[in-house]
Amino acid sequence: FVPESGGGSGGGVGAKDAAGNAIKESGWLAAHPTDSRELVLGLKAEATWLIVEDKKIAPFAINAVCTHLGCVVPWVPAENKFKCPCHGSQYDKQGKVIRGPAPLSLALEHVNVDGDGNVVLSSWKEEDFRTGEAPWWNF
Ligand code: FES
Repeated sequence: FVPESGGGSGGGVGAKDAAGNAIKESGWLAAHPTDSRELVLGLKAEATWLIVEDKKIAPFAINAVCTHLGCVVPWVPAENKFKCPCHGSQYDKQGKVIRGPAPLSLALEHVNVDGDGNVVLSSWKEEDFRTGEAPWWNF
């Protein structure tokens, strides 16, 4: 068991940018246009896509670890999908798998903003809204 650290509330973990700095909602929205996706440090310190939609930070983030063999999956804006460079798996803009060999969609994380304006990630234990199934992940 590794205790979670960071400035989260309610059991969450503060998202960090590539430089390791805490992410503030206001600064992130000022720097990231709507429909953007950018990698941050998410739960389990794994690469995670933070999404801006409708000029807001989306309430879910997408773990970037490919469900095939674990490559980090890049976002390809021109095609509006995530495409794994390792063996060609593809995921739609919400991380739902649309082409194998990946067997499963990318994992979800909840995104909230705490009272200090920090972006906080927490476990997604509810139904996967993309598939209607229980989550296959456990973090
Ligand atoms: Fe992504 Fe194989 S690791 S397709």
